[in-house]
Amino acid sequence: MTWLITGGAGYIGAHVARAMTEAGERVAVLDDLSSGVAGRLPREVPLVRGSVLDRAVLDRAFAELGVTGVVHLAAKKQVGESVEKPLLYYRENVHGLTVLLEAVVDAGVGSFVFSSSAAVYGMPDVDLVTEETPCLPINPYGETKLAGEWLVRATGAAHGISTACLRYFNVAGAARPELADTGVFNIIPMMFDRITRGERPRIFGTDYDTPDGSCVRDYIHIEDLATAHLAAARRLAERPGAGDLTLNVGTGHGVSVREMADLIGAVTGRTDLTAETGPRRPGDPARVVASGERIAKELGWRARHDVRSMVTSAWEGWCLHHPEARRG
Ligand SMILES: NC(=O)c1ccc[n+]([C@@H]2O[C@H](COP(=O)([O-])OP(=O)(O)OC[C@H]3O[C@@H](n4cnc5c(N)ncnc54)[C@H](O)[C@@H]3O)[C@@H](O)[C@H]2O)c1
Repeated sequence: MTWLITGGAGYIGAHVARAMTEAGERVAVLDDLSSGVAGRLPREVPLVRGSVLDRAVLDRAFAELGVTGVVHLAAKKQVGESVEKPLLYYRENVHGLTVLLEAVVDAGVGSFVFSSSAAVYGMPDVDLVTEETPCLPINPYGETKLAGEWLVRATGAAHGISTACLRYFNVAGAARPELADTGVFNIIPMMFDRITRGERPRIFGTDYDTPDGSCVRDYIHIEDLATAHLAAARRLAERPGAGDLTLNVGTGHGVSVREMADLIGAVTGRTDLTAETGPRRPGDPARVVASGERIAKELGWRARHDVRSMVTSAWEGWCLHHPEARRG
């Protein structure tokens, strides 16, 4: 098998490329480097610089590299930006996927892993989110991921391609500091950012129906997420034409924003900066925690890392890019 990882120079893609390479899989990456960094990739992994929207680049890459499976991570991922620029999100995430799938079909590629998101569920009102929980996305980003799943499943069924749609919950951490996420788009880097500026972390909403009143989320360590891709890719390769696997990738364990603020204070040594509280933000569900039953049953996969190791490794990565953070 040769796997082409689209978006493989990104935060998650680079971890997936590394995990698959270390496990002995042959891997190449296609990335337009719009937010990716070539230096994140292991030296032995070839990088094709180009967009999934460019059919000629895809055809050439498939033919020259002898691609037999695709792990598709290339996408735009910022919820707020997707509200401001829905057309950009539909073009990159949905049209880009259509172009890629056409190339996949024509090249006779047999396995396709798709990077989906818990954003497909929207505001789920359940204790544990299963794959049967209704998908009701509340922003264009989530819509593009749900439409992407439909495209992937329909194409797989029509053309005998084994597919997996992996719905990631809240991803954090880094295998090595240089592989860390550099964006400030979710709670962990947002709290790091405030601490670095000597400000107190902020909790949005303290009157939710949760044990401590703050929102509860399911945080998954990036290294666990990477091994989930490896397990899914191998399963698809073992069972060609076996249909689709749609799986949550989470831990089944909820952590509240307040607990996260306390943990971040402890890990960064800034327990003096106790969290300040503010009003709820629109569109924040009270609790989003995955049921991990299906992925455990289907792939024998379970998360191995705890939240502290996730925050510690994310902080190491943050300090590499923001050396002033250590001075606190
Ligand atoms: N980070 C998260 O918390 C999270 C959660 C759920 C789902 N996801 C999904 O995981 C995937 C990867 O996310 P990430 O956090 O690594 O983001 P990222 O921005 O670090 O990585 C995306 C990569 O795709 C590349 N890319 C973007 N558009 C492209 C195009 N048209 N052609 C080729 N390459 C292109 C970028 O250069 C980058 O390397 C995305 O599909 C995202 O929607 C991420």
